[in-house]
Amino acid sequence: MNYNDILSDKIKQLKPSGIRKFFDIVLSNKDAVSLGVGEPDFITPWSVRNAAIKSIQKGYTQYTSNSGLLQLREKVCQYLKLRFDLSYDTEEVVITVGASEAIDLSVRALVNSGDEVIIPEPSYVSYSPAVIMCGGVPVALKCDSENGFKAKAAELEKCITKKTKAILLSYPNNPTGAVMYREDLEELAKVIKKHNLMVISDEIYCELTYKSKHVSIASLEDMKQRCIVINGFSKSFAMTGWRVGYFAAPKPIALEMLKLHQYVIMCAPTQSQYAALQALTEGIIDGFAAVEEMKEEYNRRRRFVADSFNGMGLKCQNPDGAFYVFPDVYSTGLNGEQFATLLLEKKNIAVVPGISFGACGENFIRCSYAYSLKTLSYALEKIEEFVKEIKSR
Ligand SMILES: Cc1ncc(COP(=O)(O)O)c(C=O)c1O
Repeated sequence: MNYNDILSDKIKQLKPSGIRKFFDIVLSNKDAVSLGVGEPDFITPWSVRNAAIKSIQKGYTQYTSNSGLLQLREKVCQYLKLRFDLSYDTEEVVITVGASEAIDLSVRALVNSGDEVIIPEPSYVSYSPAVIMCGGVPVALKCDSENGFKAKAAELEKCITKKTKAILLSYPNNPTGAVMYREDLEELAKVIKKHNLMVISDEIYCELTYKSKHVSIASLEDMKQRCIVINGFSKSFAMTGWRVGYFAAPKPIALEMLKLHQYVIMCAPTQSQYAALQALTEGIIDGFAAVEEMKEEYNRRRRFVADSFNGMGLKCQNPDGAFYVFPDVYSTGLNGEQFATLLLEKKNIAVVPGISFGACGENFIRCSYAYSLKTLSYALEKIEEFVKEIKSR
């Protein structure tokens, strides 16, 4: 059979994720040390795991309501109010299979064929494919390292056309660690309102900010009605494998997204919802002690990793959020892809080429510091050796 003729044009247009490619190489080489994966190295706190075990013991093994457990949606509303001053009611929140599902639902709910969606780049890998699969057109808004990789209002204005439907924001950012502060978001919001755009705001790293508390763009004046806020438990609560996240959106949008979620997913995994409920319940009581503890550890690593790259002559911003650094490797004479390929070959250390996150990431690499200080020290020593060897060629 000629599968090429059978498969949809849209799916054939998608490129495999650049992160995945390096990850697969690492899995096939047991001596390789990876700084490639963006997932917490902490195990989900015991109390949260235990809540899932108890839900099984009690026999809670059925579907939940499509939109998710009411108690969990109530806690999500309480959490969004407490942490980010966002007021939603339970009908405006749907529990999803990770933030990933919420990203896909948001794009599918908004985008018609030919609609343009602006994506500040470097960006997380799933946004463009989601837009393409809807027949939409992803438009890259290039964010420079000189501006701390923040999306600038003037640059946004240049990307807008009659076909622009939405902007997909993601701060704190994967892969750069950039954070948009209130004043940054206010500038952007003026342009967004002027051109009547929708905002899909992926705030999955909202708990991992190192200088000041996260600000949600939906909390700015007159913004909530044009925002879909996406969040989840994977990063903040070290719960990647549980596959649980959520979105909050104005009711007319939330109801449409819920329809799609009902058809495609039914409901997020029941045991994971009980675990998430525990994570929020105890966090609200104890001031998110477990999250704070993990964040302190990331913060120690963050400084160490950024200083190490700068020390070896690779320009690297000290990121304000998430758990990634995005050093510029241009001074070695290699682009990010060549650097990552040779580094793996010569030193068995895996990092992700910046180009995986958009064309403007060409001369960068992404390293995650969601690894122990011991692993990070070892990997950075090897990277330093490699840089010296390359520069002395
Ligand atoms: C920016 C961003 N959004 C969403 C996700 C996916 O999150 P989830 O595990 O909740 O699906 C990731 C995972 O790396 C991410 O970096």
